[in-house]
Amino acid sequence: MCGIVGYIGNKNSSSILIKGLEALEYRGYDSAGIALIDNDKIKVYKEKGRVKEIRNNNDIDIDSHIGIAHTRWATHGMPSKENAHPHLDNSGLFGVVHNGIIENYGELKEFLQNKGYEFKSETDTEVIPNLIHYYYNIKKDVKEAFNMAVSELKGSYAILLISPLIKGIYVAKLSSPLVIGKGCKENFIASDIPAILEYTKEFYFLEDREIALVGDDKITFYNSKLEEINKDIKVIEWDKTAADKNGYDDYMLKEIYDEPRAVKETLAGRIRKDEKINFPNLNITKEQLNTINKIYIVACGTAMHAGLVGKKALEELTNILTIVEVASEFRYNKHIIDHNTLCIFVSQSGETADTIAALKLARDKGAITIAITNVIGSSITREALYTILTHAGPEIAVASTKAYVSQVVALISLAIYFKEIIDDKKELDNLKEQLLELPNLIDKLLDDTTKYQQIAKEIYQEKDIFYIGRGNDYNIALEGSLKLKEISYIHSEAYPAGELKHGPIALIEENTTVFGIITNEDIAEKTFSNLQEVISRGAKVILVSNLEVTNKKMNIINIPQVDNLLAPVVAIIPLQIIAYYIAKEKGIDVDKPRNLAKSVTVE
Ligand code: G6P
Repeated sequence: MCGIVGYIGNKNSSSILIKGLEALEYRGYDSAGIALIDNDKIKVYKEKGRVKEIRNNNDIDIDSHIGIAHTRWATHGMPSKENAHPHLDNSGLFGVVHNGIIENYGELKEFLQNKGYEFKSETDTEVIPNLIHYYYNIKKDVKEAFNMAVSELKGSYAILLISPLIKGIYVAKLSSPLVIGKGCKENFIASDIPAILEYTKEFYFLEDREIALVGDDKITFYNSKLEEINKDIKVIEWDKTAADKNGYDDYMLKEIYDEPRAVKETLAGRIRKDEKINFPNLNITKEQLNTINKIYIVACGTAMHAGLVGKKALEELTNILTIVEVASEFRYNKHIIDHNTLCIFVSQSGETADTIAALKLARDKGAITIAITNVIGSSITREALYTILTHAGPEIAVASTKAYVSQVVALISLAIYFKEIIDDKKELDNLKEQLLELPNLIDKLLDDTTKYQQIAKEIYQEKDIFYIGRGNDYNIALEGSLKLKEISYIHSEAYPAGELKHGPIALIEENTTVFGIITNEDIAEKTFSNLQEVISRGAKVILVSNLEVTNKKMNIINIPQVDNLLAPVVAIIPLQIIAYYIAKEKGIDVDKPRNLAKSVTVE
């Protein structure tokens, strides 16, 4: 999805902006551009394609100290130079970059066209600088014109405005992420923290409909009535190298190898072997928990798969009915939600549009809301009653890996925490011990990946790959299959092993690859039988299991024995690595797979 960077200060803005855009490339985009103030004029450089096209433009290296930049992921209008941001108004006085979608741009465009404004692009964004210009002509004041224009916009936006008329950058947001990084005699603006993490750890987070004027030495915040307001700084403890590749070929591989640390830090301070679990931010009482009659876990993509594992833990440990739903469905389905409902929203970025919309809906109906997210200060943390942070560190690769394992351990810890509240005592020492042991177990799995690489070499040319399992093993299958299709473009499906006979087995033919996952002894025999059925129809089976299995007809990947609730955290590792090496064999850019975006900030 689109990315935004802004800079004002004593350094050369173009190099900082281009570096920022490069740091945002992982989000997926199709064109890029920057606008700089040069001798009281706005200069715009934009291209279809990669940021390096902008970097290669020698004209750009002018001595400018204010600028805005953008990577565009096309929504209104095809990827092209004309549609790329920044966009200027007809007079050239106002330059804008915008993330999000202006839903009423059609009527605004018509209104402006009737006033004589001409449009050069097919974008919704181009109405914004022209609307600012329209109000500027009436009010003769940029702040008022900016505020009047943005208050007319419906939909979602993060907007940066530059103009030779002002010594600063105006910023506004509604349902789209934006952070302001504080420097010394310089300030930074970005849609995502990693773009400017190199320069600062101190951030301001705008609330919806607030605006700010970011100068080089001063940042002024206003509410929608243009009254000045104060904002607190939040310190982000991510270290700069956390957003680098650190010697790895790709972010995804680096992030897989970072999983032991991610799990360890997510558990740190919350779980200690002989103590009750501690979530200092949660203030849920035994009385409240006793009134909760159902829990929803709502999320998208990988976060939703983590939610499925969370459901198992919550139902098993608390006996409360737990329903998992994808956010894009949840927000349009009819639900019986009231103050006896607990809704948990899981989102790595904390900015996924559907998840945030679902959260607002549940909150407005009176539910108790908890956000589980990786990004401090993200939108979801501001909407939910309680927040649990996963401490995976910045996740850059589109395909989520370390965020998944940290979400899973956060959810399982939450389930134990609830059980201890309900039962009023410390318990499940063994499970806690095993949780704390997970980083070591993942480390061991990552020690030697030769076998996984070998498997990838054998199957990378497949057209269809199936993943089957039961219970938590089916949850693992879902995430394994998603990883594969996201980055290898191989068609893949995950099925509950027992459902195979109700359709998908028709697709099994000579040499079809089927991954079987078996981590639960109680139902192992059932899945074995299903695997035998596909073997009899010619399938090649790769089995991921923590049981002692000797079967010459299967290629077996052994994983360590853990409680079945925790099995996804270890079983997913080989599946992530196999997906990674398959994509590498196919020469795919694993960090930026086609058509996908890291954080989906539009519906
Ligand atoms: C996109 C990403 C996925 C991610 C999903 C949810 O589809 O490509 O990797 O799982 O969004 O994102 P979130 O930030 O809400 O966890």
